[in-house]
Amino acid sequence: AETTRYEAETSPSVCSGTIDSNHSGFSGSGFCNGTNATDAYAQSTVNVAAGTAAVAVRFANGTTSNRPADLIVDGTTVGSLSFEPTGGWNIWATRTLSVNLNSGSNTIRLNPTGSGGLPNIDYIDV
Ligand code: GCU
Repeated sequence: AETTRYEAETSPSVCSGTIDSNHSGFSGSGFCNGTNATDAYAQSTVNVAAGTAAVAVRFANGTTSNRPADLIVDGTTVGSLSFEPTGGWNIWATRTLSVNLNSGSNTIRLNPTGSGGLPNIDYIDV
C-alpha cells in the first residue's frame, strides 16, 4: 500500500527535545533528539482512512540499552516498541507496528517509558 512519510523534525510533528542533524544517515533535514526523560515524546499528525495501518518508525539508538516507548494514537496507548540498540547514532533501523487508526486526522505519539527517553527518531511512515 502507499505510505506517507512524516518527518519528526517537520511541523506539525512535535519533538519534546531538540531537532538535531549531528549524526549522519537521517532523512529530511534532521531528527528528533528527545530529552532523556520519561514522557519526552515525539508526535506526528497523520491523515488517513479509518482501519488497520502499519506504522513504521525509523530510529537510531547508539547506547547499549533499550529505549522503550508506548505508541499512543489520539491519546490511547495501542502498542509498544522496545527500540533496542542499533550499534551507533548514525545507524538507523525501522520497526513497524500494526495499529487501528481513526478516519481523518490522528496524532501518533511515541512516549518513552524509561528515564533514557526515546532513541533519536527520524520519521514515521504510515
Ligand atoms: C548522545 C547523542 C544524541 C542522543 C543522546 C541520547 O548525546 O549524540 O544524539 O540523542 O546521546 O542519549 O539520547
